[in-house]
Amino acid sequence: DWNAGNVIAEQIARIREQVGSARVISALSGGVDSAVSTALVHRAIGDQLTAVFVDHGLLRKGEREQVEKDYVESTGVRLITVEAADTFLGHLEGVTDPEQKRKIIGREFIRAFEQVQRDLVSEAAASGEKVKFLVQGTLYPDVVESGGGSGTANIKSHHNVGGLPDDLDFELIEPLRTLFKDEVRAIGRELGIPEAIVGRQPFPGPGLGIRIVGEVTRDRLETLREADAIARAELTAAGLDAEIWQCPVVLLADVRSVGVQGDGRTYGHPIVLRPVSSEDAMTADWTRVPYEVLARISNAITNQVPEVNRVVLDVTSKPPGTIEWE
Ligand code: XMP
Repeated sequence: DWNAGNVIAEQIARIREQVGSARVISALSGGVDSAVSTALVHRAIGDQLTAVFVDHGLLRKGEREQVEKDYVESTGVRLITVEAADTFLGHLEGVTDPEQKRKIIGREFIRAFEQVQRDLVSEAAASGEKVKFLVQGTLYPDVVESGGGSGTANIKSHHNVGGLPDDLDFELIEPLRTLFKDEVRAIGRELGIPEAIVGRQPFPGPGLGIRIVGEVTRDRLETLREADAIARAELTAAGLDAEIWQCPVVLLADVRSVGVQGDGRTYGHPIVLRPVSSEDAMTADWTRVPYEVLARISNAITNQVPEVNRVVLDVTSKPPGTIEWE
């Protein structure tokens, strides 16, 4: 019988044997896989592990606090946060092409992570230690997908957050390699990771950067962050989290429409709600969210987010639409 406790015990023994007294680095993305693999390695080797979280300025509301506070409190993991928002947003200036955004974000992520790696390597060397390992939250389906050589077209370049830099010589620790997502969640719960992290819906590595159609700016990010937080809170309150695979909230930053609010005419931006139901994100259907819930989301967003004067619903399945708009 599959049992989270047994898997944890087995993995702890295996990780200890693999690592010995070396030091280990792990990149936390805020997602389930990296949260669980990091916590598992921490259980095995304690403060030989340093976790790194890159704040690229494209995070959702409360996400950084969730990692820095709730995750650290519940696991005891030693965490370094890299303040990289200025750098990322600087490089994204003037960029509107989705694949270009992904390339820049992926590249900058690796740069930021490499910098911390170098610092940690020299810090360890100073005390006669070695950083030899890198934790990756690879799941069984990822292993199958990348080994399969299926020849499917690369529709969007899904960059692997925490990808291994070439010039630094690390061995990988991949404690989730034989597991499926629901098993990873079970292990995360057993390890005491907060439900808000363990139960989190998928969120793309490039974050809110690919949910602004148009150039990514601080103001636009602020607008989208507020709208996204409102939609998420309402969907959760309505008990729809299990039915919805994920619900991208998209800011059409280059579109304006006329509205009226109070006594005045407005000329604001539309927000798109994209709730989808899916098994594996390869195909998806738009979720039939009850009208009352949609009405609450729409009212709340247009009342609370000044730049938004219209909320629209995406009723396209995948295919032909993708889940994200970019
Ligand atoms: P699409 O939009 O291709 O999305 O239907 C399928 C799933 O992949 C996620 N997604 C990404 N994840 N980096 C990621 O880590 C990316 O660049 C990226 N693009 C899409 C999307 O959120 C959905 O779960």
